[in-house]
This record gives sequence, C-alpha cells and structure tokens, in this order.
Amino acid sequence: MKVLVVKNQKDADRQGVKIFRQAYKHGARTFGLATGGTPEGLYRELCQSDLDFRDCIAINLDEYVGLDGNHPQSYRYYMQSNLFNQKPFAETYLPDGMAPSAKVECTHYNWIIATNPIDLQILGIGQNGHIGFNEPGTPFTSTTHVVNLTSSTIKANSRYFKDESQVPTQALTQGIGNILQAKQILLMAFGPEKAQAVKEALTGKVTEDLPASVLQKHPHVTVLLDEAAAALLPSEWVAEHVQHIY
Ligand code: GLP
Repeated sequence: MKVLVVKNQKDADRQGVKIFRQAYKHGARTFGLATGGTPEGLYRELCQSDLDFRDCIAINLDEYVGLDGNHPQSYRYYMQSNLFNQKPFAETYLPDGMAPSAKVECTHYNWIIATNPIDLQILGIGQNGHIGFNEPGTPFTSTTHVVNLTSSTIKANSRYFKDESQVPTQALTQGIGNILQAKQILLMAFGPEKAQAVKEALTGKVTEDLPASVLQKHPHVTVLLDEAAAALLPSEWVAEHVQHIY
C-alpha cells in the first residue's frame, strides 16, 4: 500500500489525475468510479485535462434504490453532470435504482463487472469505514447486493437532500468481493471527519466491522490523503509508510 499525503484537496485532485494518466498510459481502459463529495474535485480536474476517455468504460460502485437517473440526487445524475457530459466514455454503467427486480439487477451488474475487469477503481470512505455502500459487517466476499443504509450514512448523505427524510433508505452496491477484483485501487479521503476511519482502515485490524480495512490485503492500493485526514495516523507509522508530496 502506497500512502501519499498532500497539503490540501486541490493538490490531491491533481495527484489523482496523475494516477489516472499513468494508469491510462499503461493500458487501463476500464475505470471504476465513485460518487460523493470526495471525487468531485478529481472529476473537475479530469474534465479540464487532455485525457480522452472515448475508448474507455466506466463502472460505478453504487446507486440509490428508488431514484431514477433524472433525479438530481441520483448517482447517475451526479456522474453525468460531474464527468460524463464533459468527458464522454464509450460505455458507462451504474446499478439501476429503478430495476423491477433488485435480484436480477445485482446478477446483471456482477456480470458487467466480470466481463469488464476494472483496471483502476476510485474509492472514497464513509465515516464508519464503508466503501461503496458496504456498511460495517458486510462480508469481504460479498458481490453486488441491496443494502439498508445505516442511520449514520443517511445522516452524512442528507446534506445533498432537502432533509434527512428524503434520503433513500436502501441502495444497490458492488460488494467488497467485486471491489477487490480491481487491478488497482485509489482511495481518497479528505478532512478531519475522515481521520478516525482512515487511521483504523490503514493501521488497524483487518475486520468486516471496518470495510475499508480490507484494502490492506489488496496488492495495488494507493491512498491519497490531505493533512486533515492523515492527522490521526501514528507518527511511527507515518515515518515508515507515508510519502509527503508538497
Ligand atoms: C457515500 C458513497 C461512497 C462514498 C462515501 C463518502 O455514501 N456511497 O461511495 O465514498 O459515502 O462520501 P463523501 O465522499 O461524500 O464523504
């Protein structure tokens, strides 16, 4: 695991573009994408870059159940407005939150991931250590499934909705087993509210109670943090593992 700490989110976004560029140069054409506040700046930088994704495939992690792609809070809408409209991809996939059968949709999504192996997966992290919408307790072997969102996730995501009651209570998400299949993973985390989860994920026990801790087991992970998100990492651990980029 490579851990890079930069001064602020802007520097991290630029660093993220470098990682995209490197991956593309080495043949990456299938990108696993995330939503949320964390990758917004990265997508902005990608839109302004000269990178061309017209021969690439994008496969997202998750989608709310019950929101269609025209709903401004759906992850399809987020991806269209933050990236795909400006930087078209050959194919883009997100789970269908309106699918009549969640079970069929999960099988279909697993098939999409299996037939298009992800070269580079972008991840954010929830304050409780979730990745995608895999909440604490999700088996590391899980594949695409329906989740009941925890109250802490609903609360955290309510900032995008009129109020907490508008936040869907369920989502479709790639499982941890799917995420681990990606050849390379880039986890990004910014701000003090992520510091505890980052510390536990990187330096704590690998446990299903903290989903992101499983990344310690993946052979090709880069973690990109700003100073605030890195603030609780023990100094001896930092000395041994962290590269500061200023
Ligand atoms: C959300 C998303 C995750 C995201 C995480 C953190 O619930 N499903 O994919 O990484 O929570 O969100 P944010 O980047 O807004 O802090």
